[in-house]
Amino acid sequence: MRVLVVGSGGREHALAWACARHESRPEVICAPGNGGTAQLGTNVALSVTDAPAVARLAREREVDLIVVGPDAALAAGVSDTCREAGLTVFGPSAAAAKIEWSKTHAKQVMDRAGVPTARWRSGTRESHSDLFDFVLELDGHCVVKADGLAAGKGVAVCDTREDAFAALAACLNERRFGDAGSVVVVEERLRGTEVSVFAVCDGRRYQLLSPARDYKRAHDSDHGPNTGGMGAYAPATDGCPPLGEVAAQVIEPTLAALSEAGTPFVGCLYVGLMVSPDGFRVLEFNARFGDPETQVVVPLAGPGFLDLLFAAARGELAGPAPAPVAGAAVVVVAAAQGYPAAPRTDDPITGLGDLDGDALCFHAGTARDERGRLVTTGGRVLGIVGQGGDVATARRLAYENLERVHFAGMWSRSDIATLPAGVRR
Ligand code: AMP
Ligand code: GLY
Repeated sequence: MRVLVVGSGGREHALAWACARHESRPEVICAPGNGGTAQLGTNVALSVTDAPAVARLAREREVDLIVVGPDAALAAGVSDTCREAGLTVFGPSAAAAKIEWSKTHAKQVMDRAGVPTARWRSGTRESHSDLFDFVLELDGHCVVKADGLAAGKGVAVCDTREDAFAALAACLNERRFGDAGSVVVVEERLRGTEVSVFAVCDGRRYQLLSPARDYKRAHDSDHGPNTGGMGAYAPATDGCPPLGEVAAQVIEPTLAALSEAGTPFVGCLYVGLMVSPDGFRVLEFNARFGDPETQVVVPLAGPGFLDLLFAAARGELAGPAPAPVAGAAVVVVAAAQGYPAAPRTDDPITGLGDLDGDALCFHAGTARDERGRLVTTGGRVLGIVGQGGDVATARRLAYENLERVHFAGMWSRSDIATLPAGVRR
């Protein structure tokens, strides 16, 4: 068995690791991969949005399964091009992935499927007065979202009319997010705790993985700018609604709606929920695995994870039984100085040989330099994963192991897995 993982982040290293640990010892190729995936298999340099290049590589290397990691690759039609070339792909078509790359479309699908979500309006510069009226109706307690992919930066959570009008102007007049912000969604601001639920889907059936919680803000107690995620833990059972309810109210109707629309969803459906005492509502869908959530979800999914992806890619999932959950995992991200605004790069990384045997280290921003040293390439550099019988043990092990790793300017949050994200002390 030969697997091609498309992408270069911590998520892709975790996916590659999860595939490689299968009892059949598959060969794993990563494109483009990073310093960590190079230790598991082969890296091949290419652009993840170059769909023909991905398909060509998979054909040349006679790959049995392609796992597509990043949203940009999905939106660029990598899954479509590879399927057209007769390849087996875990990852939705661009049309099915539209639930991530267009927030208006996601809201329309949710409404059609009867999925609980925040009240919303969508508009453009031409129809902005509608959006302004809605901001007034919500008295500024709203969230303004660029419709398209904006690297996690296109969402402004507002509490005043002024903030909301400024966020609308940033999208529609200043064009801060370019074309991604030429359509804008305004929605009611929800309160509660966030949790993410992941379903591996084969177009009709699904299997649930462990729910996880990530920490998006840069600094402790959820202060500072938004990042891709500074850490995560799983299973996030505290505050998570019963998974059967999420499946019945969100996953099943969404899969049915996408299938009826002729865009069946094959891949990981990532459901971001806001949970309050009144119930739960969907904040967002992603059409892929989360990063860093994958780094804690896949170690809990067991060595048969590759079988699950392969079955889903072939439309042969046995589901919908939830995967058994044994133990807990916590990932703490070691970030480069200056992340997220302007991360510094090229610092040698030391200490990885000193990690405990059962700690995991997933690379994100690393590479080998011309002298063969492992160096930082910026952003989120490493994810250090502790595993244990419960979240507290996994957390202690993650931080103990993180202490042994070093690169100049390295920093991390100290409160991963202590407080639900979004809850201020
Ligand atoms: P999204 O990209 O849509 O998930 O939004 C990113 C983040 O913005 C979410 O993880 C939430 O923290 C926040 N957010 C999005 N929508 C809402 C909402 N309706 N109410 C409150 N917070 C939200
Ligand atoms: N950690 C959030 C995401 O992957 O979208």
